[in-house]
Amino acid sequence: QAFFKSIHNSAPPSPTKRHIKVSVVGAGNVGMAIAQTILTQDLVDELALVDANPDKLRGEMLDLQHAAAFLPRTKIHASVDYSVTVGSDLCIVTAGARQIAGESRLNLLQRNLALFKDIIPPLVKYSPDSILMIVSNPVDVLTYVAWKLSGFPSNRVIGSGTNLDSSRFRFLIADHLDVNAQDVQAFIVGEHGDSSVALWSSISVGGVPILSFLEKQQIAYEKETLENIHKEVVGSAYEVISLKGYTSWAIGYSAANLARSILRDQRKIHPVSVLAKGFYGITGGDVFLSLPAQLGRGGVLGVTNIHLTEVEAQRLRDSAKTILEVQTQLGI
Ligand code: NAI
Ligand code: 2OP
Repeated sequence: QAFFKSIHNSAPPSPTKRHIKVSVVGAGNVGMAIAQTILTQDLVDELALVDANPDKLRGEMLDLQHAAAFLPRTKIHASVDYSVTVGSDLCIVTAGARQIAGESRLNLLQRNLALFKDIIPPLVKYSPDSILMIVSNPVDVLTYVAWKLSGFPSNRVIGSGTNLDSSRFRFLIADHLDVNAQDVQAFIVGEHGDSSVALWSSISVGGVPILSFLEKQQIAYEKETLENIHKEVVGSAYEVISLKGYTSWAIGYSAANLARSILRDQRKIHPVSVLAKGFYGITGGDVFLSLPAQLGRGGVLGVTNIHLTEVEAQRLRDSAKTILEVQTQLGI
């Protein structure tokens, strides 16, 4: 017996809105921060969680479901079986080992490579038309691994990359200048990690190029101050990990921000890890690293051709070389 008696003589018209489904693999600190940020932003109709630990997974699923009265309506389910992900528009992979205090992201590669061989094939089987977003570290190399294992075209495989580092960068610049971080346009590109590159030459604050902004506001600056801000960005994750053991909230917002641009076809430009060969003089092999890319319903729609100084371009090529050297250890 139906709960509601229909007020229509015939069945009501079926909804025309497209059903949006996202799957998150890995229900740890990062996966759950992403899942909960996505839920609060009303981005999806259905959210599927997968993890290797069934108790943790069920506990996280129930805890999220119990917030139903306070959230936009979303069907949440979870399983260790990948069939729960069937028909996803976007699959976000966060499973795997994380750094201990002081450990580099690149050090995680062999452990997380093994997991990806079990994770990517079933995601592809159940959602052959989806977009893959990789978050597990080292994110650039694992995005390459996911691209290879999936057989997807490169526009449908994205690493969360330096979208997070760029937010840290914008926060620190905004803090330094006492302005709103959303008014700071600034990119960190290259590896999400130690060899990332700050693009100082293209930073603007409220549309004003930063160097002339500093002069106009009569704010004294030295090259060293700027370099120190970038060093602080590189050290950010190490600091948070040494203090609380892991990072989660910022990557939660970063990944949800990317999910919004993709699922809502926002065509916004984000620094994310994409197949970079051929852009900005990057040669030497198929390498994924972050470049300013336009994101929409088709995934990566294009890579923006912004002006780099010769020093910035060289640092970007060096970053590509660092990642390629690590990729040679892969054997896939
Ligand atoms: P965590 O240890 O809290 O969670 C990892 C989860 O993966 C656990 O729940 C575990 O059961 C699950 N897992 C392990 N093997 C699995 C498998 N084969 N299939 C499914 N699930 C599996 O770790 P946390 O803090 O969530 O970090 C996850 C990853 O995200 C790490 O690699 C970390 O370095 C990375 N990360 C990346 C960031 C980025 O900006 N790209 C930011 C922060 C973390
Ligand atoms: C972060 O940057 C650890 O990659 C992680 O927060």
